[in-house]
Amino acid sequence: MNFQALNTVAVPWKLVAAALVLDDPQGGDVSQTHLKTRLQKFGFLWPERIEGADMPIMPSRDHPLGISVGAVTPGLPPVKVTVANLGCASCHAGPVYAADGSPDPTSAWLGSPNSSLDLEAYTRAVTTALKRQSGNTPRLLEAVRTLFPDTDAWEMASLRWAVIPLSRRRLAEVPEGLSPLPFSNGSPGLTNGIAALKLQGHVLSDAQEAGFTSIPDLADRSFRSTLLYDGAYAPQGRPRWRPIAREELTVAHRDSLAAITSFFTVPSMGQSPRGAHRQIPAAQRAFAWLETRRPQSFPGPIDRAAAARGAVVYDRACASCHGVYSGPVERPRLERFPNWHGLVGSDPRRTAAFTADLIRYAGSDGYDQILDARPTGEYAATLLSGLWATAPYMHNGSVPTLAQFLLLEPRSERFLVGGHRLDFKAVGIAGQDRSGVRVYPDGYTPWSQPAVYDTRMPGRSNRGHEAEVSDLTLAERRDLIEYLKGL
Ligand code: HEC
Ligand code: HEC
Repeated sequence: MNFQALNTVAVPWKLVAAALVLDDPQGGDVSQTHLKTRLQKFGFLWPERIEGADMPIMPSRDHPLGISVGAVTPGLPPVKVTVANLGCASCHAGPVYAADGSPDPTSAWLGSPNSSLDLEAYTRAVTTALKRQSGNTPRLLEAVRTLFPDTDAWEMASLRWAVIPLSRRRLAEVPEGLSPLPFSNGSPGLTNGIAALKLQGHVLSDAQEAGFTSIPDLADRSFRSTLLYDGAYAPQGRPRWRPIAREELTVAHRDSLAAITSFFTVPSMGQSPRGAHRQIPAAQRAFAWLETRRPQSFPGPIDRAAAARGAVVYDRACASCHGVYSGPVERPRLERFPNWHGLVGSDPRRTAAFTADLIRYAGSDGYDQILDARPTGEYAATLLSGLWATAPYMHNGSVPTLAQFLLLEPRSERFLVGGHRLDFKAVGIAGQDRSGVRVYPDGYTPWSQPAVYDTRMPGRSNRGHEAEVSDLTLAERRDLIEYLKGL
């Protein structure tokens, strides 16, 4: 077990759960209900229903969506401990939205981004709670027993004699209020996957590593010839950048992308490259399912006439980079994706973060046979399918609405994100700017704890993509928004 990287590596689940509940600044009893509200504050979904898959999937009652829990027995003499990992659905399932833009955190849509998940706040809170609560072992173990009554004597003894002392030792050096990670994971909806990968590969040198990335919707991914925002990963032996049309979506291409995706488990789940290699068949099944998946359809009103005009603007000004859609204007389908790449003036920190020293690590343990990893210094034009539910926008999640992205309104310097409601006119995070912070409308209570996104911080610039829209009239941009709602 490794406490160094709480977001990338397993945590002792029962201990973490008990410590978080005991250490709640808001107080409260030791109960599963309290654990649920505590974890929801960090943006973990704990839904009653899962939608967006063809088959019914029952969520777990015992832990949040995407947290996978299992007992392991490492060490000699063997200790027994229930560990939790961050699985794909913790980031890649988002709330379902109602017709007025309110999120319904009791249901989750698979493949939508969880734009409220605040891994940085979670990691810090877990660290603080374990540090404080492991000083009182009997109380902590009592809370474990109350929350998880079927924990057996072997596991209780392992927690008492092995896990709590280890956690106390490891966390002693972490300054109060910080996390044991040498880098920040950002704020709600953001991750710092390149820093996590560098930490795993022992090439993290810059503690200020700020290649923040916003979680995308997973629709239409097979249209890409590379993966990641900068296209750093490509299947070995094929031209890196090439247009792909619907007819060219072969199983072989899909499988080659899936094989690369298995490497994502290295930064996200703390796998070794060798372990990730074994995940290839699972990744291929996930990709095959993704191809059948469609994003949530827009639940609010679409002005059909405006959307039809917007489609014409899109074809003229956007399709050459973002792809050709066809079909009904309220629900068009991607037909061809150019895989355009270049620079549009957005924050350079993410593409700069993928350095040449990662090539060797990403090629280890057989990955050089399938994965062509290299710095590109560019960004790939984003797939826009499912766009409406993915605010805030840009690879670093720095622009709260499409109206701001299209420069119909000035871009906010600071705004709140997390647990938000969507505004279906501006399309994005609802609210107004007040003293430099975009706040939620009166009377709305966010379902998770929001945090301020400050675009003046490293890696978080909201500049870029101005030239691509500034030639359009204001009316054309408003029409475009109506059309983008349906993608
Ligand atoms: C900690 C949050 C997190 C977890 C866990 C996570 N992802 Fe992602 N995923 C992201 C982010 C952020 C991106 C965008 C990164 C980028 O493109 O640079 C992404 C991108 C993707 C993409 C699209 C890549 C592209 O460039 O088009 C796929 C496919 C994907 N993830 C699948 C998975 C699978 C499968 C798992 C489980 C093994 C997983 N993810 C786990 C956050 C996560
Ligand atoms: C020259 C190529 C190019 C053109 C033309 C272009 N874009 Fe983009 N667009 C990009 C790139 C590259 C990005 C990724 C920038 C980033 O995230 O750093 C992007 C990002 C976006 C995003 C953010 C997506 C997200 O999920 O965060 C939206 C929305 C978007 N573009 C809409 C448009 C619209 C609408 C048009 C037409 C008016 C357009 N773009 C024209 C290249 C282009």
